[in-house]
This record gives sequence, C-alpha cells and structure tokens, in this order.
Amino acid sequence: FILKACSGWPEDKQDYGEIEYLTLLAGMLLTSSSPIYIQDVAGTLSTGGENYPDKRILAEKYQKMSGQKQIRLGSVMMMPLVVQDEVLGALSINDTRPHAFGPAEGRLLTIAAAQISTAVQNSKLYDNLEQRAVELETALNKVEEAHRLKTEFVENVSHELRTPLTFIKAYGALILEGSLGEVSSTVKERLEIIFQKVEAIIRLVEDLVYLQKIEAGKLRLEMITAHELIIRVSEAARASAAERNIEIVVNSAPTLPRVRVDADRMGQVFDNLVGNALKFSATGSKIVITAAADGDKIKFLVQDYGLGIPADKLDKIFDRFYQVDNAATRRHGGAGLGLTIVKQIIEAHGGYITVASEVNKGTTFSFWLDQDSGVESTHSVR
Ligand SMILES: Nc1ncnc2c1ncn2[C@@H]1O[C@H](COP(=O)(O)OP(=O)(O)OP(=O)(O)O)[C@@H](O)[C@H]1O
Ligand SMILES: [Mg+2]
Repeated sequence: FILKACSGWPEDKQDYGEIEYLTLLAGMLLTSSSPIYIQDVAGTLSTGGENYPDKRILAEKYQKMSGQKQIRLGSVMMMPLVVQDEVLGALSINDTRPHAFGPAEGRLLTIAAAQISTAVQNSKLYDNLEQRAVELETALNKVEEAHRLKTEFVENVSHELRTPLTFIKAYGALILEGSLGEVSSTVKERLEIIFQKVEAIIRLVEDLVYLQKIEAGKLRLEMITAHELIIRVSEAARASAAERNIEIVVNSAPTLPRVRVDADRMGQVFDNLVGNALKFSATGSKIVITAAADGDKIKFLVQDYGLGIPADKLDKIFDRFYQVDNAATRRHGGAGLGLTIVKQIIEAHGGYITVASEVNKGTTFSFWLDQDSGVESTHSVR
C-alpha cells in the first residue's frame, strides 16, 4: 500500500509509523475485503483484542510504533475500496480519541468508499484507454509503412518486368515477320505460343499495376450518360465476341441519366466482365449488356448463358488469384485477378457489385453506380 492522499494528519508525521500501521491494517483488508473498525486501539490491546487475533496483532504493532513516535490513535475505521471484487485500496478515518465513530460515520465512510472506488476505477480505465490509443496509433503507423513498402515494391517489380518483356515481344515480332531470316512453320508455331505467354505475363503485370493504382485512388472522373458508356464498351466487346461467333445484345436508352466515372477504368470493368462471359460461353451463344435506372442509381448488367459458377464458389470469385477449377479455366489460363480489379474499380466509384449464377444456365454480374445529380460534389475516391 502507498499513501495516496490524506487530510488532517500532522504533516511531520505522514511518513511515520502510524502510516505504516495503517498500511498493515489495509493489508488485512486485502484478505477480508470488508470494513475494519477498531473502536479503542489501546483497549483492544489490553483486553486481548475483542477475540479478534488479527486485530490484536495490529494493536500490538501499533502500540510499539506509537510508543516510538509518541503518537496515539484512539479509534480507526477503515473501508476497502472495492471494484468488481478487487480491492483497489483503502479509505481510513482515524481519531486520537477512542470510540470516536458511530454508525453514522460507518455509513458515511461506506458511501464515500463506494464513490471513490468508482472514481479510481474510471481513472484507471481512462489511463488504459489512453495507452491503448497510443498502441493503436503505433500499429497503424506500422501498417501504413508496410502498405507504402508494398506499393513501392509492386511498382518497382512491375517496372523491372515490363522493360525486358517489351524487348522479348519486339524481337519475337521481328523473328516472326521473317526480318531476321526465314522461319519454318514449326518454329513459327512455337514462337506464337511464346508470344501468347509473353502477352499473358504482360497483362498480369499490367493488372498488378492497375490494382495498385486503384488502391491509391487515382481516378479521372468525367460525366457521361450511362447510354454513352454502354455504347463505348459494347463496341469493344463486339470485336472480341465476333471471333467466337457470340452475339452481343445491348439494352440501353439515350435518355438514361449521367454517371460520374473514370471512363477508361469503366472500360476495363466491362472488358473483364465481357471477357469472362466470352471465356465461359459456348460459340454461338449470346451476351447481354444492360444499363437501366434503378431508384437513384444506375444498374449495369453483364449476362451470359454459359458454364455458370457453383453456388459454393460464388463468394470467392472476387478474391485475388481465385479461379474455379474446371476445364475452361485450365484451358483459358488467366490469373484470377480480373474480378478483383472489377470490384475495386466499382467500389472506388462508390458503387457495388453482385453476382448470380446457375451451373450450365449462365451468369449475371450486376453493379450499381450513383446517378450524377449534376451538382458539383467533392465525392472523392475511397
Ligand atoms: N461469366 C462467368 N462464367 C463462369 N465463371 C466465371 C465467370 N466469370 C468469372 N468466373 C469464374 O471466376 C473466376 C475468377 O474470375 P477472374 O476474372 O477474376 O479471373 P480469370 O478470368 O480466371 O483470370 P483473369 O481475369 O485474371 O485473366 C474465373 O476463373 C471463373 O472460374
Ligand atoms: Mg477474368
């Protein structure tokens, strides 16, 4: 026990034996956690201690000490300061006269002890909170630093990868064209495979860089009607669909409201969604792209009639590098980054995306963006 505060006690006695004595008494409270009242300290000693051995021991101790210091305590009343069964300390009133305290003082002391206990507990909690806040801030700084290092790392690695890949591609093209001498058809075939793989790596590197950029929240927002957006993206989609003899059906109307988007990034969203739809559809099937008003939002759909996704895999497909393991994904390759990018771009625009699918029936990706109210806003990217 440490003396935290006292009042009415002679200043020159504060570090004397009386305090030590009280400390001893308070030590007893730790085991009893109930009030102690010695009405007559000297009497307790002479009568053998009210049949209370501990009190007698204390009284003896006191007697010894007060003998040394010439201080006499007549009565001592002490209450434990208890919070949730834990003794935090003790509150003590003392008088030089014996029998100084009655039931009224007892009640007063009980109430005061309860209030002080709560106050002490609150201040302890507050200290803990402050300490927690400091710890959290340190942890946050560490996370931010790790994030910065990761960004830097991805940027450096992608740069280092892109440069040699561009060389490989350029020299490959020269060889394929026959500019460096005649190339046999067998070599040409193999070179084309190398080419495809190089393209795939370049795309992967670009995807990783994109992910980084979206995370950093760099969007170039412009206002465009949902219809214009759909027309732009469906033209790109038609080109790749034609190769597979897949029809692109567009549902949209010029009267649709405007959205505030980074059109290049939105192009990427549709490229990925339509690209997937193409990958997982049979030749001759169709893909439907829709834009429609939906409350104060615009809803966009990319719908296919292909392979579908098993229900238990639906919540995983937006995860980084996740691919449903089937013949189609093995045949098409890919990195499993497309939908991660899609989701991040949409969320960076303040929107959200969902998927519904049935195996062998088809898949529909739906996402919603806010209609642009026309009011200049400071809507920023998360
Ligand atoms: N329209 C779809 N029909 C069926 N399965 C799909 C469809 N879209 C996505 N999937 C499933 O979700 C997985 C993840 O898609 P995601 O676009 O992220 O990766 P990926 O297309 O395999 O590779 P990447 O897009 O990086 O080239 C796919 O591998 C596929 O299993
Ligand atoms: Mg994809």
